[in-house]
Amino acid sequence: MKFDVKNYPNVKVLNHPLLKHKITLLRDVNTGTNEFRNLVKEISILEGYEALANLPTELVDVTTPVEKTKQPMVSGKKLCFVPILRAGLRMVDGLLELVPSAKVGHIGLYRDEVTHIPHEYYCKLPSNLKERDVYLLDPMLATGGSAIDAVSMLKKHGAKNITFICIIAAPEGVDAFCRSNPDVPLYIGALDRCLNDKAYICPGLGDCGDRIFGTFDH
Ligand code: PRP
Ligand code: URA
Repeated sequence: MKFDVKNYPNVKVLNHPLLKHKITLLRDVNTGTNEFRNLVKEISILEGYEALANLPTELVDVTTPVEKTKQPMVSGKKLCFVPILRAGLRMVDGLLELVPSAKVGHIGLYRDEVTHIPHEYYCKLPSNLKERDVYLLDPMLATGGSAIDAVSMLKKHGAKNITFICIIAAPEGVDAFCRSNPDVPLYIGALDRCLNDKAYICPGLGDCGDRIFGTFDH
């Protein structure tokens, strides 16, 4: 059956013109490391703004130069951002601009270059994950293997309320991720055409970790 994102109710493909513009710059092979890093951060802020749209607020007392009033502020929700290393690290910088008080966990996974199967090498998460809203961050959703493994690690550590934010996704990864985690909302900056035979996203942007950290010759 032909892939149609409308069949995936937990998926939101974001559509803001600024987001599209910045993702196009990110894809460009001539975009250098410094600009690439800055773009990943800016895109993460734009996506985070959407993904955090349902944060609860409460009325607090505030005195303006004119009078005393009650106005909304984000209520003491416990947030946790979890990047998948390496590429997700730059997304955290963006999300922390929006919510500087959030806790940060880290999950280290790398894809085997031949099998494309993810391997875990690091996991450090804040305590009481079950009480927190957890935002998992990774720019790329290709086969979906890394994100699926990361969500099971979060669930094993007690996380109940997880949202995944990525920048570019392939239909294959969206399908695998949603089958495995229909309970996890997925925010996508751009939905691409397909994977190639090396499980790279097409048209994609290449290897995101290498482009962020400048490790092209490993
Ligand atoms: C990239 C990317 C994702 C993963 C996506 O990381 O940042 O974590 O690939 O691919 P998948 O959906 O097929 O699992 P990579 O494994 O290259 O590690 P790196 O960030 O350390 O370069
Ligand atoms: N990981 C990346 O960094 N890029 C892809 O296209 C696929 C997986």
